[in-house]
Amino acid sequence: MSNVLFVKANDRPYEQSISVQMYESFMNAYKAANPTDSITELDLFKEDVPYYGNDAITGLYKASQQLPLNDAEERMVNVIDKYMDQFLAADKIVIAFPLWNLTAPAPLITYMSYLTQSGKTFKYTAEGPIGLTSGKKIMLLSARGGDYASEGKQYIESGIKPVKAILGGLLGIPIEEVVIEGHQEFSDRAADIISSGLVHTQKAAAGF
Ligand SMILES: Cc1cc2nc3c(=O)[nH]c(=O)nc-3n(C[C@H](O)[C@H](O)[C@H](O)COP(=O)(O)O)c2cc1C
Repeated sequence: MSNVLFVKANDRPYEQSISVQMYESFMNAYKAANPTDSITELDLFKEDVPYYGNDAITGLYKASQQLPLNDAEERMVNVIDKYMDQFLAADKIVIAFPLWNLTAPAPLITYMSYLTQSGKTFKYTAEGPIGLTSGKKIMLLSARGGDYASEGKQYIESGIKPVKAILGGLLGIPIEEVVIEGHQEFSDRAADIISSGLVHTQKAAAGF
């Protein structure tokens, strides 16, 4: 039995949101294929995820050195520890999010900052960073209205790229992904793009 953490980073309604539909499709197919797994849902827009800044950075440093924390630092460290413990307890993590204004929604960026802790989830070495977690894998589910497959557009896509760089590159966790893209750019083919993308999402869930 696996512990599976489902992270949703989109507060738009199901009917209007492709990445929310991907989240639900994946969840239903996953549960059907793995009925005894333990599922935890994390809806980031409903959570208290304060910006990652000096209270977090200094608080985490002080906590690691057993130094006294002020109230704001202690609050941040408690918030971060809660999400870190939940992440570390998961064997599999599924993250669904849209591309908005060329990037990922802010709560997801904040959440990933909480997880990016040198000495806990990764460490720097002379050969570069190495991950400190083991046995995990991550599925990214993302939708974007434009098609970024072409070489000319790939470089401006900054939504899934930083998520893969942090969780896959820095934390060293194997990443799988399903992307539905181009349904707004090619609106005449939107229905096909979305329906085949959702079928692909369900297949990915059954094999995850
Ligand atoms: C505020 C906003 C900004 C968006 N910015 C982009 C963008 O930069 N590039 C793009 O291809 N699509 C963009 N889109 C379209 C979404 O990527 C598209 O709706 C996609 O399906 C993801 O959103 P959804 O999961 O809520 O449907 C944007 C949509 C919204 C609402």
